[in-house]
Parts: sequence; C-alpha cells; structure tokens
Amino acid sequence: MTEGIDLAAAKSEFYHPSPRVVANAYAPDYLALREQAANDPVAFWDARAKELIDWYEPYTQVLDQSGAPFFKWFVGGKTNVVHNALDRHVQGWRKNKVALIWEAEDGEVRTYSYYDLWREVNQFANVLKGLGVAKGDTVTIYMGRVPELPIAMLATAKIGAIHSVVYGGFSEQALADRINDAQSRVVVTCDGAWLRGKTVNLKEITDEALTKAPVVEQVVVLKRTGQDVAWVEGRDHWWHDLTHDISAECPTEPMDAEDPLFILYTSGSTGKPKGQLHTCGGYQVHIATTLQYVFDLKEDDRYWCAADPGWITGHSYIVYGPLILGATSLMYEGAPGYPNPDRWWALVEKFGVTVLYTAPTAIRGFMRLGESWPDKHPMQSLRLLGSVGEPINPEAWRWYYTHVGKEQCPIMDTWWQTETGGFMITPTPVVPLKPGSGTLPFAGILADVVREDGSSADANEDGYLVIKHPWPGMTRTIWGDPDRFKQTYWADFAQQGWYFTGDSARRDEDGYFWIIGRMDDVIKVSGYRLGTAEIESALVSHPKVAEAAVIGVPDELRGNAIYAFCILRAGVEGNDALMNELKQHVRHEVGPIAVPQQLDFVATLPKTRSGKIMRRLLKAQVTGQPLGDTSTLEA
Ligand code: WTA
Repeated sequence: MTEGIDLAAAKSEFYHPSPRVVANAYAPDYLALREQAANDPVAFWDARAKELIDWYEPYTQVLDQSGAPFFKWFVGGKTNVVHNALDRHVQGWRKNKVALIWEAEDGEVRTYSYYDLWREVNQFANVLKGLGVAKGDTVTIYMGRVPELPIAMLATAKIGAIHSVVYGGFSEQALADRINDAQSRVVVTCDGAWLRGKTVNLKEITDEALTKAPVVEQVVVLKRTGQDVAWVEGRDHWWHDLTHDISAECPTEPMDAEDPLFILYTSGSTGKPKGQLHTCGGYQVHIATTLQYVFDLKEDDRYWCAADPGWITGHSYIVYGPLILGATSLMYEGAPGYPNPDRWWALVEKFGVTVLYTAPTAIRGFMRLGESWPDKHPMQSLRLLGSVGEPINPEAWRWYYTHVGKEQCPIMDTWWQTETGGFMITPTPVVPLKPGSGTLPFAGILADVVREDGSSADANEDGYLVIKHPWPGMTRTIWGDPDRFKQTYWADFAQQGWYFTGDSARRDEDGYFWIIGRMDDVIKVSGYRLGTAEIESALVSHPKVAEAAVIGVPDELRGNAIYAFCILRAGVEGNDALMNELKQHVRHEVGPIAVPQQLDFVATLPKTRSGKIMRRLLKAQVTGQPLGDTSTLEA
C-alpha cells in the first residue's frame, strides 16, 4: 500500500507531542523505560505483570524458553482474565462505573455498569454450564456487534472454556470449517444482525453451516432483529429463555497462565484457516500494558475502538484490554456512514469520546465523503487517535489529524497481528510522530528489519520484519497443528530463533519503522485479512473452474483489491453471466469481503517448473511493473 507514497517527504515531517500531552502521559519517561526494557525485556514484562494484573497464585518463572518456539510466560501463575476484567472491579468503587455504552444502528442506547456486565456474564456462564460446557471445551460465537457478544466471550472465559469468535461477515462454509476445526459442541449466534438498515441472516447461515458440522449439539440464539427463523427443537434455544431466572452467582475458574483462553482463526498461505491459540496469562499482561501506555487511559476517559469484536483488535482492545483497565468503552452496532455520513462524528460528540481507534480504510472512506462532515462537529473531547490494520498513507494520516483530531490529537499508529496478540510497533503519546510510520518497537519488543541471511538491513533498505525475543501476548501454537506453527513463523530464521512476521518493512535513519506490506499470500482488503488460497479454493470448488489464481492490487480506498484469474474447464465459455456467478460463489463460500473486484478468464497461468503459480508475475503484469526474475518460469 505504500506504492505512490512520497516516503522521503513524509519522513522529514516530525510531529512533536505538546507539553500538555507529555505532562499527562501515564509514562512521561517512556523513552528511557524503553531503553531499559531493550536490555532486559523479561524484567520489563515482569514488572508490568505485577503492576496491572492480579494473580490467584504468583508465577514462579517469567519466561521459559526451553521448549522454543513453544514459549511459556508466567509459569506456575494462576489467574483468570475475567477476574481482572470484572470480578475485581465490582468489589470496589468501579462497581458503579460505566463499563460499556452501546449504540444500536437505529439509535437505541444501552449502558452497562461493571456490576451489570458482571451479572450478565455470570448468568450466561451458568447457561453454558447448563449446556454441558466445561473447562477446556470450545464454544463458537457467531454474532453481530451487540453487547451479548462480549458477554458470551467473557462467560466462556469465566468457566475456563475456550472461545472461537467467527466474524459475522463470514459465510456458512467458513463458519462450518471453523466449527469443525475447533470441534465446538455449542454455538452462540443471533437471529440476525443489523447492517445499513438491512438484516444479515445469521441464524439461517448457522443452520446451513451446521449441516456440514454435525459436531454441534446446542445452539443459543439471541433475538436481535425479530425476523423469522427456522428452529430445531432440542438443539436451538433462545438466549432470553435460558437466561431468564438463572442464578447470577458463578465462581470464576482459576486457570493456569498457559491454559488456552481463545482461538481466533486467521488467513494464511493455504486454504485452511489457522486457529491462533492465545493463553490466559501472558495475553492479559501484554494487552493491558500496551493499552495503558499507548492510549494512556484515565478513569474519566471514554474510549472507542471502532473495530469488530470478531477480529483480534476487538478481542484485545474492545473486550479484554479496556475491561482489565477498568475503562469506559463505546461500542457501535452499525455501518460507519449510516444513515448519515457523519454518524461516527455525531457519536464522538454525543458520548464525549476522548480516544478513538480505527483503521486507515475507514479514514479513507470518510475522506471521500469530504471534510464538511467532520468539520460540522467540534469533537473537542478527543485527545488521542489510533490506527491499525494496514499502513496509513500520509495523506489519510494528515486528514485524520486535521479534520478529526483538529490538529490537537497525536495519532497512535499501532502495528501488530492476530499472532502477536497486542501492539508491537507503536508510538506512545510522548513519542514524536512521522505520518505513516508506526515509529518504534514497543518497550520490551525487540523488532528488526533484516536481510535473508539475518544481517540487519541498512537504513532505508527493505527487508524482512522479524521479532527477536519472545513477548507475552504471542500466539502459542496453531490449534491442532504445531508443525504448521513452526513452519509458518519460525522456519525462515530458524537458526537465529526469530519470529518472522510475514511483513516487509524498512527502518529510516532515525530508527523509525515503515511497514511496506505482506510478503506472503495474504491480502489486506479494507484492513481485513484474507488468504489468496482461501479465495482460490473457493473458485476452483465451482464446477466450471479448472484453476484459479488470486492477487491483491493497490486500491485507493481499500488498500488492496482482489484480482482473480480463472482457467475454465474445457468447453465452458467465459461471459459476464459466469463472472457474476463466480463472484456469488465466492460470496457464498467465504463471505462478502472476499468477492473479487476484478475477475479475468485466461487460458494459462504463469507457473514455476514445479507447478507453483507465480502470483508475483501476475501482479507485475496488472500493475505494469517489471517482471523481475523469471528464471523459474515454466517454459
Ligand atoms: C498489517 C491486525 C501497517 C500487517 C491487528 C500485519 C499493519 C497484518 C498495521 C496483521 C499498521 C496491521 N501498519 N500494517 N499499523 N497493523 N498491519 O492479523 O501486514 O488482521 O502483518 O491483525 O496487518 O493483520 P491481522
């Protein structure tokens, strides 16, 4: 996505934090702390684990590297994220503090105090127990953006079960694959979800998915839209029936620091999604620390992370992080510009949001609509802004800074991944900013840009972005596939024992990091992560398609757009009707976010002699760039 960005011009532009921001920062001496942490990351994380997290029983070792790359953090510690997120708060004054403000797309507002949330979580935890869910079982959650989604996550964690949240925009096949991989006997869903005034038929999609996932025995359905739904007696239960008249007392299960907390599926370079496994101890420490230091949350803040809880950003920075810190969060159900292009800015004003965290694609979408919409709203409550998901081009950065932040709010550009659990390269409010750069690795994170042989790249030289020391929020394995975990992340720099992120980056002469983009077969479309292989296997599952290749091409609004090439079966004619049919097929197999913007019928695809499709060549052809090394191309 950095194509077209004048990096040289952007780099010379430093934005220094105002003295007011520095004076109020949680860690005014952050840069010195960072220096110290670089020499002893383990001591840094140890101190944070004691500062921000309560342990039922203390850990005896901070980091165990003996089973590398299967690292263990806070060994021997006993904890539960729900204790830190809810139980401890209701024992003190935060009992009455607002934990969550939710606005529905139609304008309805619900407010939950910490006590309210704690009660509802306990009740739903008892529901899950009643359905036979026990410690170590998985629960798949497939819902819209409603408060019951975090409630279901927290209830699952409370009893020591493992949640697998599947984003509500995925299709039945994607849902079925994820349920089967996690072997969930219980699924929690909604009748439907509201989006742009229309309904997404979640229960219907679930019903279809379950025809391919016979492992499921029980389905809990939250009534949200009131639409008609099919019903399987004995299997399906209304949320309101199960929670009616159920006890709000439920003990929180003490968990080992390394017990699983959740699985979150993410795209990789094969068609099969990878279940990233995060555990109970280190994950909490990482997200609480990064949220506290980067977004500098104070008791009187109103924090809004506008992501979807179904992605890692939502898990870490809508649900768990803010609750652990005892913060007040806003959650909004619907589409950004609905019904008016200034819906978001009206929300900021209405609720006095102080910290807003969103994605470059949303900013670019708002830029298109023009500055008159944010300019209508003074938004004086805002003091910090954030960005995540893909590189933010300096133009979008400046627009966000000027029209949303009114030149008063530093932007925290946070680089991280589903695999990292929490922020890795990010400023804090005291770090001078450069538009488009995530600035510096967070304290305790040892990141570098290296060449293929592992030597550090020079300033401004492109290279592989690697992490050289374990960190507490790191994914522990791929669910059910430890070999793939090793192969995917730890094989490229196996000798050195480094984690390879899959991203390319460069570091400038000031040591600031600039993310260039993915080096593997992952495409980021509007910040959503998709694997080329997922879309390709959807295409070839259509009876008229013999072979398919998918690439990402730069797109002004979405960062990347999906470009598909299909070889049709013999005798099949490629026409517009078939093109639409194939797009519909992808929508059905993966979901609307995966539908190719462009689809070409071709007679051949460039391949290596070993038969691997050379997507790099397709991309060079489409974007008009030099073809580069073609020596491995099949004759
Ligand atoms: C990209 C999202 C540039 C990157 C939290 C990474 C970014 C992938 C940024 C992970 C950023 C994320 N600047 N690129 N601030 N944040 N990325 O797993 O390519 O959905 O590898 O996690 O998003 O995507 P994921």
